[in-house]
Order: sequence, then structure tokens, then C-alpha cells
Amino acid sequence: MTKGTRIVLLGRQGSGKGTQCVRLSRHYVVPHISTGDMLRAAVREDSPLGRSVAEVIGSGGLVSDDLIVELVRERLGKADARRRGFLLDGFPRTVAQAVALDDISGDGALNAVIDLVVPREMVLDRLSARRVCRDCGANYQAGPVVRSPWTCDTCGGDVVQRDDDTPESINRRLDLYETQTAPLIEFYGATNRLFPVDGVGTPDQVFERITSIIDAR
Ligand code: AP5
Ligand code: MG
Repeated sequence: MTKGTRIVLLGRQGSGKGTQCVRLSRHYVVPHISTGDMLRAAVREDSPLGRSVAEVIGSGGLVSDDLIVELVRERLGKADARRRGFLLDGFPRTVAQAVALDDISGDGALNAVIDLVVPREMVLDRLSARRVCRDCGANYQAGPVVRSPWTCDTCGGDVVQRDDDTPESINRRLDLYETQTAPLIEFYGATNRLFPVDGVGTPDQVFERITSIIDAR
């Protein structure tokens, strides 16, 4: 069984999972494992995996459970995750993936599933203004002043808009969240692993809410 801190961040697209995981990963010294970041890296590298998923990601669809489960199984088998644990961001996203995660990490191995709760109307604005560092995944919000070129404050990488942050793709992802991912709330609630966190507030406030739950576990 995996040792260390084992946390899943749930929440609809734009609820701040990625933003919080970057901070939590530094705070607890635990690997931040984002399936979205892994898939986008594969697309950038133009690997066979990247070529097979590029269209699905761009349109806001979901990559197949089998493919994503194998990707996560391999990643969680690496030494850092086995020793330090993991912060999972964007996985699981279907009940089938959640069942597979229990199989991979060991039944009862998750310390907590944090559900970041942010209303749909609010995430639309956040996603349209989102810019991300291509290299380290840090998140930024675009303001009225256009910054071009824009380099990351943390690592100096290029800060760009994600290909799937178009209105059509955002809406498709949010619709899929309601049908495919929302049932996970019941799945984890039934086994007393679910901790809803109000995701409305400053990133600092949300971070405090999450760490107070993790520290108490
Ligand atoms: P993924 O990369 O996981 O994208 P997503 O699900 O669309 O989620 P987001 O990254 O958009 O949301 P987030 O919660 O991380 O928000 P963020 O912190 O950036 O997946 C991409 C694609 O890959 C999927 O569509 C699918 O095709 C595929 N995929 C991935 N995993 C899969 C799986 N398991 N199964 C099948 N397919 C899979 O925040 C958003 C913005 O808000 C940022 O600009 C940020 O700066 C800002 N912000 C954050 N917090 C706050 C705050 N407190 N107040 C104000 N603004 C804030
Ligand atoms: Mg994200």
C-alpha cells in the first residue's frame, strides 16, 4: 500500500483544484498528480498517447477510463508517490475510476477526498480568464492589461491560454462533470471519505480550509 499523505481533490472544472494542489504539494512535500497536466504534456511531446487524446481533450470530452487508469497506475507506482503519497487532481472523474483507485492504492488508503464547492456561474468567469504556465502548471488570471510575452513568476516558463478554455469546450466539460463526476460525491460520502470545502473566497482562504481538514486527519 502507498504510504504518506493520500488526498484526492474533487470539484468542478475551474473550482481551483490545480491552484490548490500546486500549493498543497509544496506545503506537504507530496507529488501533485494531475491527469490533465500529464495528458497535455503527452500532447506537447506529440507521443502516441498524446496523438490519441489530443482531439478528445480539445473538445472537452473524457479520455477512456482504461487509458487513464493505466496512466495513474503507472504514476502511483513510482518511488516518490509510494514513499510520500499523492495529491490527485482531476482523477478519479468517474465511478469506474474511483473503484480502480481503491484497487491501485489499497482499500481505505485515501486519507481524504476534498470536494471544492464552487457554483457553475462562477467558474465560467475564472476559466475564460485562466492562463497557465506551460512548464510548471502554475495558474494565473488574465487582467485588462495584455502581457505578451508572459513568463511564469515561479519558473520562467511561457504563460499561455489552454486550448480547451474555449466557451464550447468549457460548457462540455461542465456538463460532463454533472453526469460523470458528480456521482463520486455519493460514492465517497457513503464510505465517509468526503470533505466538502467552500471554494469561494481567496486562494489563501481556501488553502486554510483545506489544510485544516488534512491536518486534522
Ligand atoms: P484537467 O486539466 O483536469 O481540466 P479540468 O477538469 O477542466 O479542470 P480545470 O483544470 O479546468 O480546473 P481546476 O479545478 O484545476 O481549476 P484551476 O485551479 O485551474 O483535464 C483536462 C482534460 O483532460 C479533460 O477535459 C479530459 O479531456 C482529460 N482528462 C483529465 N483527467 C481525466 C480523467 N480522469 N478521465 C478522463 N479524462 C481526463 O482554477 C481555474 C482558474 O481560477 C485559474 O485561472 C485560477 O487562477 C483561478 N482561481 C483558482 N482559485 C481561485 C479562487 N479561490 N478565486 C478566484 N480565482 C481562482
Ligand atoms: Mg486543473
